[in-house]
Amino acid sequence: MPTATQSVRDIVATQPSAAKVFHRFDIDLCSQADKSLDGACAELQLSVDQVLEKLADAETQERGGPPADPASMSIGRLIQHIVRVHHQNVRQELPRLVEMAGKLAAKRSDRAPELKHVEELLEKLRAEMFAHIQKEELVLFPFIAQMDQDAIVAYPPAHACFRSVSHPIFMMEQEHESANHVVSELRSITLGFQPPVWACATHVALFAGLSDFEADLKQHVHLENDVLFPRAIRLEAELNSRG
Ligand SMILES: [Fe+2]
Ligand SMILES: [Fe+2]
Repeated sequence: MPTATQSVRDIVATQPSAAKVFHRFDIDLCSQADKSLDGACAELQLSVDQVLEKLADAETQERGGPPADPASMSIGRLIQHIVRVHHQNVRQELPRLVEMAGKLAAKRSDRAPELKHVEELLEKLRAEMFAHIQKEELVLFPFIAQMDQDAIVAYPPAHACFRSVSHPIFMMEQEHESANHVVSELRSITLGFQPPVWACATHVALFAGLSDFEADLKQHVHLENDVLFPRAIRLEAELNSRG
């Protein structure tokens, strides 16, 4: 558990989720890295107790492993889980990472020219993924949820704008491939998200954030491609066979 006398740098090094908390409170990982948490908070007129409380919350969340087996969840609960956990992560993390990469590229591109490319790739990923999750939330997921709820009553739902659920699923899977491709490119140009020895705390936090995002995206895509989508396709076939 972090303490008020520890430096900002030490806290981020031992608890990666601290970078997000500091960002929310405007504690700067570069200029305030060597200050004690107490000192950094005093400069910004923040309550150190409040920051410590948020750090503790973030740590608890970090340790709280994955939820119950997704295969055993109902379709509705699975969709809710994907939106609440993984879409929320896309919305929260990508703008934060883009902003950090932009600041870092402006300051450190002379020593690490790849940072400019990291910023461009992250911006591309942000734009693509924001559009992608919106399509899922507005079109595909409500369709699948309705198909599940109305399994006995009626099929197809009146508002369906495609002939088979496999069509939008195919599109979503292609977009997953594109996102995975951008993340592998990020991994490759950062040599596996390894910051150089001279990296400042922002640089370290950006690469740790990228690595966390990669892990979250893997789980997100797995839940859709391997669990939700096959179930939706089976459900549609079942409904069709009933005529
Ligand atoms: Fe998704
Ligand atoms: Fe998706």
